[in-house]
Amino acid sequence: ENNAGRLTGQAYEEAAAYIRQQTSIQPEVGLILGSGLGVLADYITDATTIAYGDIPHFPISTVEGHAGELLIGRLNGRPVVLMKGRFHMYEGYLPELTSFPVRVMKELGISKLVVTNAAGGINTDYEPGDLMLISDHINLTGRNPLIGPNEDRFGVRFPDMSEAYSRRLRALAQETAQAAGFSLREGVYIGVLGPSYETPAEIRMMRTIGADAVGMSTIAEVVAARHCRIEVLGISCISNMASGILDQPLSHEEVMETTERVKNRFLQLVSDVVPKL
Ligand code: 6GU
Repeated sequence: ENNAGRLTGQAYEEAAAYIRQQTSIQPEVGLILGSGLGVLADYITDATTIAYGDIPHFPISTVEGHAGELLIGRLNGRPVVLMKGRFHMYEGYLPELTSFPVRVMKELGISKLVVTNAAGGINTDYEPGDLMLISDHINLTGRNPLIGPNEDRFGVRFPDMSEAYSRRLRALAQETAQAAGFSLREGVYIGVLGPSYETPAEIRMMRTIGADAVGMSTIAEVVAARHCRIEVLGISCISNMASGILDQPLSHEEVMETTERVKNRFLQLVSDVVPKL
């Protein structure tokens, strides 16, 4: 168990059992919030807040701007479990640790997962502040959370990834955005390990192989979610253009500033769409 990567079925059960003891709400939708998007947590009603450190076997996140709390409550009436702060492989977590919370959410009963992140725009039509539905991903991390003995309880050895990001949920999100009067991009997310940003040459390569946005999260969580047949909706906030596109260096400050600027649209999209999922 823990960082040695020997998580057994029992660890997931113990974590889920602890969480169930804190609330009578049974979540149906899971939410994982990316950098600067944690404000959504303020809109959860009937919330029970649990520090990651209090949950048996739960990893604790280390990066600034990522508070480590699990909330169970309602978003616009829908019972949800929300991760405020997630685990990145660049922090040194093994991929199976970054996806541990996804399996715990599965144990809690969710059947849908909304994953959000801040990502760099690779597609030159994009602008900072755009919201992008993830239509598919490219796993460039070289890691996979399912490596090791298969947990048959959760899913099969060789899971299908042909519709990793649900067409149905994307259509719902598009309708929701249209009704609210704004548009969403739809594109391919490419996941890397980080923590350094890419070079211009790497970004040119990524554009050539079909990526529209790049980030350092999401991939392991979505692989683990699809393994246990959770339906996924992925939303990227394009927080900056990737390197080599504009004549300026990249910074985490820019990422945080842009997400601050788009957070109202993001909040509206997520809170409007979650009851419909
Ligand atoms: Cl440009 N690259 C990566 N890997 N992650 C990001 C990003 C860029 N912008 C926000 N997150």
